[in-house]
Amino acid sequence: MSLLIQTPRARVARLARRLTGAPSPLDGRTVLVTGASSGIGEATALAVARRGAHVLLVARRADELERVRAEIEAAGGVASSYVVDLTDGDAIDALVEQVLAEHGAVDYLVNNAGRSIRRSLALSHDRFHDFERTMAINYFGPVRLTMGLLPAMRDQRFGHVVNIVTWGNQLKAPKFAPYIASKSALDVFGRILGREEFHHNITCTNMRVALVATPMIGPTEAYADRRAESPEACAERVVRALEDRPITVNGVVGSVGEVLNLVAPRLSDLVMAEMARRVPDSAAARGEGPRA
Ligand SMILES: NC(=O)c1ccc[n+]([C@@H]2O[C@H](COP(=O)([O-])OP(=O)(O)OC[C@H]3O[C@@H](n4cnc5c(N)ncnc54)[C@H](OP(=O)(O)O)[C@@H]3O)[C@@H](O)[C@H]2O)c1
Repeated sequence: MSLLIQTPRARVARLARRLTGAPSPLDGRTVLVTGASSGIGEATALAVARRGAHVLLVARRADELERVRAEIEAAGGVASSYVVDLTDGDAIDALVEQVLAEHGAVDYLVNNAGRSIRRSLALSHDRFHDFERTMAINYFGPVRLTMGLLPAMRDQRFGHVVNIVTWGNQLKAPKFAPYIASKSALDVFGRILGREEFHHNITCTNMRVALVATPMIGPTEAYADRRAESPEACAERVVRALEDRPITVNGVVGSVGEVLNLVAPRLSDLVMAEMARRVPDSAAARGEGPRA
């Protein structure tokens, strides 16, 4: 029942840490970060290691994971890396088995690995694989990993999961149907997990992240002159979500969009349709670039 006052307790604890210089709750804990080879995941792994956690780095590119692991260890931190394709269910099961054998349990899990696709439905009729591949990495992968790690969290009566989702879950932005549908599925899974596991002291934060300057947004020309948060600033907010365990982390724009959608849904459709008309599909989405 102490979770009922988690938010005020986290604020008081944060203030106390600031005043006394006490360590982060992540100190000495095991934190698994997926997609730790780049962008938000890499910055999160470095930030979590600075708080004294043992970081388990997961992604496909062994050389990039090794680079991140070496950087953490050079700074005095502790990290282990696991090369895994999170669209491969058997590989996820093997990862869970290995991690539990080596570490007993994972205390904190950051479901960050993912991919985005910005392509209008009109260009997607022959591209059902866009729907399948976004669900594979943004939904089935993190769900399978979370389900694998959950029993050990239950046994130790502690666990916290942070899902890196998107402000698109609130905005329901045109041209992102496969991506936002997959992230919304993960968002709902996380919310229900928090309810079912309430009495086991296992919690989940859905972070509805806005634009972050990572390799992911590179192929989208429309983002070239948009203001984007740095991966390091975003990672500091992920650390805060790990330490404080809120239910959601939202931005102002996403929340305004969510409220407009609730109180005036048709007006919200008009605003979104107009905005989408002004920003056409990128060359990559039209099949003229390397990746959409
Ligand atoms: N950037 C933004 O504006 C933004 C906004 C909202 C939400 N997000 C979310 O933030 C998360 C991180 O994205 P990012 O912006 O940091 O992009 P990024 O730099 O491209 O990082 C994506 C990460 O996911 C990993 N990954 C992709 N497919 C994988 C697979 N099949 N198996 C294992 N790992 C895989 C990649 O590692 P490997 O290639 O080495 O496997 C990489 O480490 C994503 O879930 C994204 O949807 C990003």
